[in-house]
Amino acid sequence: IAPIERTLAGLRAQTAVWRKAGETIGVVPTMGALHQGHLSLARAARAACDRVIVTIFVNPKQFNNPDDLENYPRTENDDARKLESIGVDLIYVPSPDQIYPEGFATTVTVSGLTDMLCGATRPGHFDGVATVVPKLFLQTSADKAFFGEKDYQQLQVVRRLAADLDIPIDVVGCPTIREEDGLAMSSRNLLLSDRSRIHAPVLAEVMNDLRDQLLAGAAMSDIEADARARLLAVGFNDIDYLELRDGGDLSLLDKTKPDARLFAAAWLAGVRLIDNIAVVSS
Ligand code: PAJ
Repeated sequence: IAPIERTLAGLRAQTAVWRKAGETIGVVPTMGALHQGHLSLARAARAACDRVIVTIFVNPKQFNNPDDLENYPRTENDDARKLESIGVDLIYVPSPDQIYPEGFATTVTVSGLTDMLCGATRPGHFDGVATVVPKLFLQTSADKAFFGEKDYQQLQVVRRLAADLDIPIDVVGCPTIREEDGLAMSSRNLLLSDRSRIHAPVLAEVMNDLRDQLLAGAAMSDIEADARARLLAVGFNDIDYLELRDGGDLSLLDKTKPDARLFAAAWLAGVRLIDNIAVVSS
């Protein structure tokens, strides 16, 4: 079974041995409640690096709602079992004081990219992500880090901060893993009621239909209202955003172009679901 390390000193003792042997290290940062999406990142790391560390830390700084932090699923034993089958070398589960010791006073802010989408509706969220991620990079001294396109804005924010802070790490983006009915896998799906779970895939269906219409030449401003109405009709009660944006700088678009992506965040009976897809023929 992959050893679980809970202290920074213990983590560093292990990575020092690997480094001395000339081995490369891959890191997969997570908040646990692992599903096939997370495991696909661990497999990508396993294929690309000599040593793989999966980190599990429910980062309080990136939750802008205390209930959301409290309700976040925690399934450490199951997580460890799943990671064992992939051949992960170390699971780093730092206690909060290993990340935010007494007196911790630094916040990393990535401007621009974080003004829109989840940045606009979740104040402080990306500061929390941008503060913890470089710490995990530096604590693990990894050569490569694996992130899902499921959180595409986060991936772009992480690429930006690694470049801006000269952290010598290769940030690798990996495709979104979905349930058979199209729902993007997410730890938050565990919070959906049976009834909501039936309606949740409509988010991906609506986005796929928008993609087809955009590829046929439609403008978002002409097709967005119908798409929103479809979501509200099946029980989504609040749509944070449903937008077409450039996949590089995330600037807003009305018509598609190379590298355009659709982004959505919507609430279904108290659970916030997000998704994004590239606007290319499937
Ligand atoms: P978490 O939500 O646990 O996600 C960990 C990683 O798994 C992220 O890179 C996320 O994009 C990826 N992931 C989640 N669902 C996925 C799916 N269906 N397919 C592919 N990849 C998926 O994202 C975070 O944690 C945190 O913000 C973190 C980066 C750990 C910083 O605290």
